Amino acid sequence: VSTPFDRSLVPEPLLALDHEAIAAEFGTPVFVYDEHELRRRCREYAAAFDAVAYASKAFLCTAMVRLVGDEGLLLDVATGGELHVALAAGFPPARIVMHGNNKSEEELSRALDAAVGRIVIDSFDEIDRLEALAWARGTTADVLVRITPGIEAHTHEYIETGTERSKFGFTVSEGVAEAAVERVARSDRLRLRGLHCHIGSQIYVLESYARAVDVVVALIAETGVGISELNVGGGLGARYLEEDPVLDVSKYAAVVRDAVADACHERRIRAPAVMVEPGRSIAGPAAITLYRIGTVKEIPGVGTYVAVDGGMSDNPRPVLYEAGYEAFLPARVGEERDLSATVVGKHCEQGDVVVAEALLPGPVRPGELLATPCTGAYGASMASNYNKVPRPAVVFVRDGEAREVVRRETLDDLVRLDLE
Ligand SMILES: Cc1ncc(COP(=O)(O)O)c(C=O)c1O
Repeated sequence: VSTPFDRSLVPEPLLALDHEAIAAEFGTPVFVYDEHELRRRCREYAAAFDAVAYASKAFLCTAMVRLVGDEGLLLDVATGGELHVALAAGFPPARIVMHGNNKSEEELSRALDAAVGRIVIDSFDEIDRLEALAWARGTTADVLVRITPGIEAHTHEYIETGTERSKFGFTVSEGVAEAAVERVARSDRLRLRGLHCHIGSQIYVLESYARAVDVVVALIAETGVGISELNVGGGLGARYLEEDPVLDVSKYAAVVRDAVADACHERRIRAPAVMVEPGRSIAGPAAITLYRIGTVKEIPGVGTYVAVDGGMSDNPRPVLYEAGYEAFLPARVGEERDLSATVVGKHCEQGDVVVAEALLPGPVRPGELLATPCTGAYGASMASNYNKVPRPAVVFVRDGEAREVVRRETLDDLVRLDLE
């Protein structure tokens, strides 16, 4: 059965755009965000949890830092680079949560000197390193200890981080996490503010969170340490495909909060404040990527390749995780789709796929615009210069007005770091 594209995958203002005008002004490929949708998603989270840190790895630039700041959220950064962008944009350091499984002395020093609100401790080496740096400065650091609860999150193994095999955090088995929590609690340079866990990304099974919460609360009870907050990480799935479920933030919050309340009640401990760190579910659905189709190739007995002017350099997720996307032709969004095609990029890799199984209204012609929904997370932030393809511009649309918040790289940018 041939049906038109499911418009509910895209915020209405991004469907109503004059896409040709956007392409003419900013070029293609281009990431186009609906600013209201970003803000709406921030607010939805803020209303549902005690505290929310936007995970900047999903999509970070100065405009996004300011938007998140305006909306009153905290900001999760995972490297010195992300911290730098946040500070340079004027984000209040007290609202920054500093992550990383291998933070260098320089990164920890910058976090301490800026007085970031929370540092999430990930290893015994880091406890020693941070303690020494804090001692040398005559200061103390507010920390969370990252726990690996040993939970399967039912997502791709590369983005599943809560299992015993994870490189992140302290595993609960064999008493490792307990030893880490006790070690931090004894420190006179580290103030144990709470515990943290993050079980993975693109999670649809909300029960996974409840199971992780139970493990972490059990650990709090066993160690007997007093903590004021429990950060259950990010990971709520986004709807990429028509068949993907629509996940409701308030339902997610209810599952997490009920799990915390039940687990604390059962162990007779005071329930901590519940914090989350969403990235994908805030930034992902708020953007589309607009490409220009360059060639259409029909291979007898194989199928149709529709090639666009970007690819794995602006969206590496299909290559990394075999991630699926939809595609639509903005000028023909209401048409029946009778062509099954593979949308590919312009890179020198056979695996350079944008949409493995796209349903489009045929025939598709070179020169038409093609868009992919739900590319606001882990697209611009994972973009590369592979094949020396300049990185796309990022555009925010608000009340029908489009403005470039990150300019497109130029060919000159491609040689600006070369010393000879
Ligand atoms: C520690 C931590 N918090 C939050 C996130 C954000 O996850 P998501 O974008 O799936 O919400 C990640 C993603 O990898 C993470 O590692």
